[in-house]
Amino acid sequence: MRSANLRLSLPKRILDATPPRRIITGPRFTPVVQALPSIVPFVAPDEIERSRGQKFSVRLGANELTFGPSPRAVEAMQAAAATAWMYGDPKSHNLRQALADHHGVQPLNITVGEGIDGILCNLTHLLIGPGDKLVTTKGTYPTLNYFVAGKGGLLQTVPYGPDDRQDLPALLAKAWEVDAKVLYVVNPDNPSGSWHAEGKIESLIEGLPPGCLLLLDEAYHELGVDFDANAKVAVDDLRVLRLRTFSKAYGLAGARIGYALGAPEIIAAFDKIRNHFAISRVGQAGALAALLDQAYLHEVRERVRHARETLGSIAAQHGMRCLPSATNFVTMDCGKDGAFARLVLSELTERNVFVRMPGVPPLDRCIRVSCSSDEDLRIFSEALPGALKDAERKLGSK
Ligand SMILES: Cc1ncc(COP(=O)(O)O)c(C=O)c1O
Repeated sequence: MRSANLRLSLPKRILDATPPRRIITGPRFTPVVQALPSIVPFVAPDEIERSRGQKFSVRLGANELTFGPSPRAVEAMQAAAATAWMYGDPKSHNLRQALADHHGVQPLNITVGEGIDGILCNLTHLLIGPGDKLVTTKGTYPTLNYFVAGKGGLLQTVPYGPDDRQDLPALLAKAWEVDAKVLYVVNPDNPSGSWHAEGKIESLIEGLPPGCLLLLDEAYHELGVDFDANAKVAVDDLRVLRLRTFSKAYGLAGARIGYALGAPEIIAAFDKIRNHFAISRVGQAGALAALLDQAYLHEVRERVRHARETLGSIAAQHGMRCLPSATNFVTMDCGKDGAFARLVLSELTERNVFVRMPGVPPLDRCIRVSCSSDEDLRIFSEALPGALKDAERKLGSK
């Protein structure tokens, strides 16, 4: 049956003014979106499994906490599942109150979002318009870059320093040079695993140009070496916004809960533009229970530390070096260039071991492996020598 042409019901004056369109034109994307390249920045392990038609034996590439969340968080989410017919509380009241107690701040210092990623997106709504500049390290966690590009903002990058850390003095100099609205620093860093001691961040804040926000992504904070929930940066300081998540140390990546700690003026601005119902009731229940189980967090820290050591010895057995890590992954220097590391990665994939690698030099000489159980790391260590050997062979035959 042919559908009726609704256009014919339009008032005559509109019909006369607009000739019938024979060509389907599609939506009118914004000039910024039209100028963006079509890319899929993150190929998920699930997608790789689908395209290979095979499940990975171990999933060690997505910086997830393979040990899983606290059993109390699981119980809380199971109980909340039956209430999932209700929207989540748009203010995340109970979770924000508990986070405020945990950090010794007020709930008005905290906004909750759909992971740090959701907050990064919201932040670009707040601060980035066409031509606005954001300074970041070339090759650090890239999600913010896509959101900035989507707003027509301009990324200004600085390379990693010679010690594979984010180069704070160079970042600061760039922020002054380009009049950056945002300086994005990831501490501890992904993909290097490196970190900056507290004093360094404080002096970075003191040196910021006027009107530049330091966006401090602390996704791995709880796994750091000198873990202290109440790090010393003043929460009411208008020059800085800190980001934390339940995806890493708390093992709730699939629940999508992150939060920002900052001055009430900045936190309140998020309410103007955020998706108020983005957070699910199940996720809120899981995050709250996870936060209240600090004993489990300490157990996780211990297991991660043990796994970092195990990965260190596996790397050493094959003449590889691990970069120091304050995260739940270890970045292993394969000792050659990016082409070689890419071959090692693809050989590990062939052996059903999922790991990832940094995308750009100088860190693309490395592969990045998640901390995991002894059993998972045994599977990785059995696959590694063959992967290295075949990668060497393929490199030689190129
Ligand atoms: C530095 C960094 N920030 C943020 C995220 C994403 O966090 P979330 O799951 O809270 O969106 C990741 C995930 O890998 C990360 O490495």
